[in-house]
Amino acid sequence: MSKDAAISQSNPLRIGLSTRAVPQPCALVIFGATGDLAHRKLIPALYNLAAAGELPPAVTVTGFARRPKKDDGFRDELAETTKQFSRQPVRDEIWKTFAQSLFYHQSEFDDQEGYQSVAKWLEQVDKERGTRGNRLFYFAAAPEQFEPILKNLKEAGLNKPKEGSWARVIIEKPFGRDLASARELNRVVRDAFSEDQTYRIDHFLGKETAQNILVLRFANAIFEPIWNARYIDHVQITAAETLGVEARGGYYETAGALRDMVQNHMLQLLCLVAMEPPTDLGADSIRDEKVKVVRSLRRYAPQQVGKYVVRGQYTAGAVGGKPVVGYREEEKVNPNSETETYVALRLLVDNWRWSDVPIYVRVGKRLPKSATEISVHFKRAPMVLFNRDSTSLDQNVLVIRIQPDEGISLRMMAKIPGTSLRIEPVKMDFHYGTSFGKASPEAYERLLLDAMSGDPTLFARRDEVEEAWAFVDPIEHAWSQKENAPPLCFYPAGSWGPEEADELLACDGRTWRRL
Ligand code: BG6
Repeated sequence: MSKDAAISQSNPLRIGLSTRAVPQPCALVIFGATGDLAHRKLIPALYNLAAAGELPPAVTVTGFARRPKKDDGFRDELAETTKQFSRQPVRDEIWKTFAQSLFYHQSEFDDQEGYQSVAKWLEQVDKERGTRGNRLFYFAAAPEQFEPILKNLKEAGLNKPKEGSWARVIIEKPFGRDLASARELNRVVRDAFSEDQTYRIDHFLGKETAQNILVLRFANAIFEPIWNARYIDHVQITAAETLGVEARGGYYETAGALRDMVQNHMLQLLCLVAMEPPTDLGADSIRDEKVKVVRSLRRYAPQQVGKYVVRGQYTAGAVGGKPVVGYREEEKVNPNSETETYVALRLLVDNWRWSDVPIYVRVGKRLPKSATEISVHFKRAPMVLFNRDSTSLDQNVLVIRIQPDEGISLRMMAKIPGTSLRIEPVKMDFHYGTSFGKASPEAYERLLLDAMSGDPTLFARRDEVEEAWAFVDPIEHAWSQKENAPPLCFYPAGSWGPEEADELLACDGRTWRRL
């Protein structure tokens, strides 16, 4: 082995930033453990970690929820749903051992007695299972329960770890519904837990390719010199989903696509693409740079919202050949709902690097395809040599595929073999699956381990969340006007969104990338 290879093997660069600390044994309490998130994501993620030998065996999970249930019943239900949603097939012998670490605690969220008894239970867990007084509280309950849970945890003293142990909270989105409510929630959180103890989860940051954006940009010498307004024409960020609102109509009516996807996931991706190099890979160095990007986003005046933001809602149509109902016909949705299931925005980051480079963002439900990607469109080659007749040469486009088929591709021009000179775009393509020969972990796997290790890098800091709301609020405000609100545009399910979203780019002489 060469010397360089030996060095790189003994000192592997851990993607995602600083070297991962070791996850510590802990008692994980999931508030709202009978809900969708716990069943679809959290328990399958923990099972996969256990199966891969990455979970400290002492980790003990206690579901805290209102419905009466026994440990066995809870385990049986989770066995079923984990089989359905797990990334890897569930192996009975591994499940049996893992299931021994699952327990259920029934209580109302605002009943202090429930917290007192859980505190006693956790002490017993420490003694019997070796969780060392470490506590991880996961808020997977409805957002209106966050405040009572925080207050009761504090009253029961569960926010204060014993000497040498730790207590942390993982708080799910939505983190507030506007700037004022996010600030208030941050105040209530801070009253019980310090910022170091607080992990605001945005699962997009746990996706392998999202983490790879920083590696692509800062571990390669060739991209950074051209990653700016001089060479980049524009950027597109798309999160398309074929799914509708499923059983979440009630929640979705209070949110809409802007709050559900843009305030958090899309702005986080945008930050990773647009941020300056951090001074080091520490959590705060990275988050300092991200928050500067959100602060630099040009804010819209109310009268500009209609010009730069398109909101849409799906009507009945067909997805994947199957007929589907319109949003207004979905369960728990107001038949006259004005809630948007699609948003497209034209954003500008007002700093030197990105001056006048539009960043177009679109998210939507019931689109023809499920795909999340970022495409960086470079300026065309100068109008000389091969590019004489107007704009015949395509742009170079770097595509970062977040999901599915995670990878990166670069479109460039090549001569078609033959005796005449004809040029066509070709792709250099990197696929995670084939290059590394193994599937990427689910975002929740990575993020749960990070929280158990005390690494907050991939979680949103207080100021990031608040700045994101400060950007989103004027748009929501303009939409909620009784008069002169920008229109809600309709699109049939299974189409690529409202025509108005195409016009948003057509005005600039551009089109959305075909996915
Ligand atoms: C969630 C949103 O945060 O992200 C959902 O609430 C959305 O509406 C989901 O479907 C998309 O996440 P993923 O990982 O499935 O792309």
